[in-house]
Amino acid sequence: MKELLIVANWKMNKTKAEAKSFLAEFLPLVKETKAKIVIAPSFTVLDFLTSQLKNTKISVASQNMFFASFGAFTGEVSADMLLELGVEYVILGHSERRQYFLETDSLVNKKALFALENNLKPIICVGETLEQKTAGLSMQIVKEQITQTLKNVEENHLDNITIAYEPVWAIGTGKAMSSEEADLMAEYIVNLVKENLNTTKAVKVLYGGSVNETNANEFFARNNISGALVGGTSLNAQKFAKLIVG
Ligand code: PGA
Repeated sequence: MKELLIVANWKMNKTKAEAKSFLAEFLPLVKETKAKIVIAPSFTVLDFLTSQLKNTKISVASQNMFFASFGAFTGEVSADMLLELGVEYVILGHSERRQYFLETDSLVNKKALFALENNLKPIICVGETLEQKTAGLSMQIVKEQITQTLKNVEENHLDNITIAYEPVWAIGTGKAMSSEEADLMAEYIVNLVKENLNTTKAVKVLYGGSVNETNANEFFARNNISGALVGGTSLNAQKFAKLIVG
């Protein structure tokens, strides 16, 4: 059985007090799971979460990061700042960052390279919009995103990289992609990464977009899908635990 990687993307939700009550409810429910769980809270809750999760197998991710160690970059957070708190992963290039904060593939590439050099594990998000899907461009878009965001990434970093395939039209809409279609895209991504990094090893690909406690197992059963990036459902301790333990 493959080890599943299940990442909670809390987006701009949960204060520290809310995170505290989430953990009180959630931790007892997932004690026995073999899945690797990662939680990505807001910056303001990172410190609290890493300290609370210290003696568990659950890791913490940041939802963003800048590509310099320090300096005059108002509003940004560096890799060192995240590492000091015990953060292990960083989500990069989420479609909301691309849409609202105009992040490009080349910016995501800079961040990914910087994360890898600094021992943070990037979770790089790719995926097509509805318009692009309707125009039959899904594969072309994903190919471009993978090629650009992984530019100059070395093969020896492969184990620390995760790709999250999140069709934009499926995010927060309650309309997940079919697991069959998601698996085909995941296979396409695995092959693209092999080509780009000149390796025979398969990168981990997560599916994201309206994954919930009832449809998650369909995705987890697929050969090329290594887990999920979960937004809405990860805010509810009971539902998120059910998504994980089945
Ligand atoms: P969703 O979000 O699960 O609410 O669709 C997923 C994501 O944006 O990462």
